[in-house]
Amino acid sequence: MSDDHDHHDDNGAHELRVSKIQDGTVIDHVRGGQALNVLAILGIDGTEGEEVSVGMNVPSNRFARKDIVKVEGRELSQDEVDVLSLIAPDATINIVRDYEVVEKHRVERPEYVEGVLSCPNADCITTGDEPVTSRFEVLSDGVRCAYCETIVREEIASLIDAA
Ligand code: CTP
Ligand code: ZN
Repeated sequence: MSDDHDHHDDNGAHELRVSKIQDGTVIDHVRGGQALNVLAILGIDGTEGEEVSVGMNVPSNRFARKDIVKVEGRELSQDEVDVLSLIAPDATINIVRDYEVVEKHRVERPEYVEGVLSCPNADCITTGDEPVTSRFEVLSDGVRCAYCETIVREEIASLIDAA
């Protein structure tokens, strides 16, 4: 157990502390500065009353600084985890039930993500009337449409299909 979490009693004066959750998902070890993008990927903007805690640039052992996102009452789907891996490749997904971590997994960068992102190219076959499932190859620094080869490196979160 590392000592970079909020469940320790040594309340360091500069440590941002975030409460434990009862049921839901803790996305831990998010690269510093990416927490808001994680929320964007999950489609969380607070307007639906979701209970969300965010720690940004919290001291961590594994990295100099990390972000942490806690979502009460929601367990992430594999699609969501796949896309998270694009912006938070070292994140740990903790599923919490009745205050206990019952599942913990590292995100894995998939080779492809299918049906999750929509191509920004209006002429792409996947954005036409015919139902063609989007498919993006995951690059080290972005994603490439498998159909029209459009590469997206920034703002990948904005391509997430509004479910
Ligand atoms: N957590 C939480 N609410 C709970 C249980 C855990 O918010 N009811 C958070 C902890 O604060 C921690 C993360 O979920 O940020 C993982 O918890 P745990 O597995 O207990 O901590 P570690 O073993 O230190 O995690 P790791 O080995 O992944 O660093
Ligand atoms: Zn395309």
